[in-house]
Amino acid sequence: MSFRPTLPLYKKSSTAWLARQSRDPFVKARLSSPSSYRSRAAYKLIELNTKWGRFLSRASTRSVVDLGAAPGGWSQVVAENFGWTLEAADDAEDFGLCEEAKVQKRGSWSTEPMNETTRRGKIVALDLLPIRPIPGVQTLQMDFLAPGSARVVKDALKSSRNPEGAADVVLSDMAANFSGSKIRDSQMSLDICHAVFDFAKGALTVRTVDERGKASIGGILLLKHFSHPLLQEFRKEYLEPNFHLVHYIKPESSRAGSAEGYWLCRGWLGRT
Ligand SMILES: C[S@@+](CC[C@H](N)C(=O)[O-])C[C@H]1O[C@@H](n2cnc3c(N)ncnc32)[C@H](O)[C@@H]1O
Repeated sequence: MSFRPTLPLYKKSSTAWLARQSRDPFVKARLSSPSSYRSRAAYKLIELNTKWGRFLSRASTRSVVDLGAAPGGWSQVVAENFGWTLEAADDAEDFGLCEEAKVQKRGSWSTEPMNETTRRGKIVALDLLPIRPIPGVQTLQMDFLAPGSARVVKDALKSSRNPEGAADVVLSDMAANFSGSKIRDSQMSLDICHAVFDFAKGALTVRTVDERGKASIGGILLLKHFSHPLLQEFRKEYLEPNFHLVHYIKPESSRAGSAEGYWLCRGWLGRT
């Protein structure tokens, strides 16, 4: 059997990546603005929040879970919406990456709960990788697919105002490293979607309708996935029966060639 070295392929894809980064308007915006976000992904959440009812900005949104949060762009966006001020970015060279090596070489990591009286609500961010401290965000470094992780996140959400550890919004931008096999990558995306859904069903606040027909918003789930028929089945079987509304969204700031998309699921019905 012939052996093919992988280095030339790596060089080629890395050159293509650099060329794409230099043309990307979201990368340019980030680099020209020294006090903004740690990742290009932040622009996706800003766009989604702005176009879809500013669900992060509502006073009723008080507890948010950010799954697959490193390096922290989405958590920064949530923290801003909760009234925290971002510190100047010092990690321009990390931009657009979720790579271990670039994140791990940095300083100390926050695992302390924030003082819940200073700003609105609670933000819990989790990743396999460490996340540098973000004002207003409690970070957890763990594998979300490992047994017991849901309990740890719920415990982190608990406060005197929220003794059950309920979540108003669950965000998941989690993505496993690409294996190159479409079947395997789709299966990984499906496993992540199932794990997030299982967590969401035990944590999201339930949509209620009062006797005059006035409805509360109910819990929101924003879930990244990769397009594949298996994932469409997941949507039909798990999301549509359990949420008031489910939308498929491909943000403008998501690369056109990528198979990624998001489901924005609004109004958790609490049926499951
Ligand atoms: C696209 S990046 C997230 C970017 C992030 N939303 C931001 O704004 O900076 C995907 C993240 O999912 C994380 N991830 C993948 N599988 C995971 C797992 N099983 N548990 C926790 N995090 C995971 C990766 O480590 C990676 O940091």
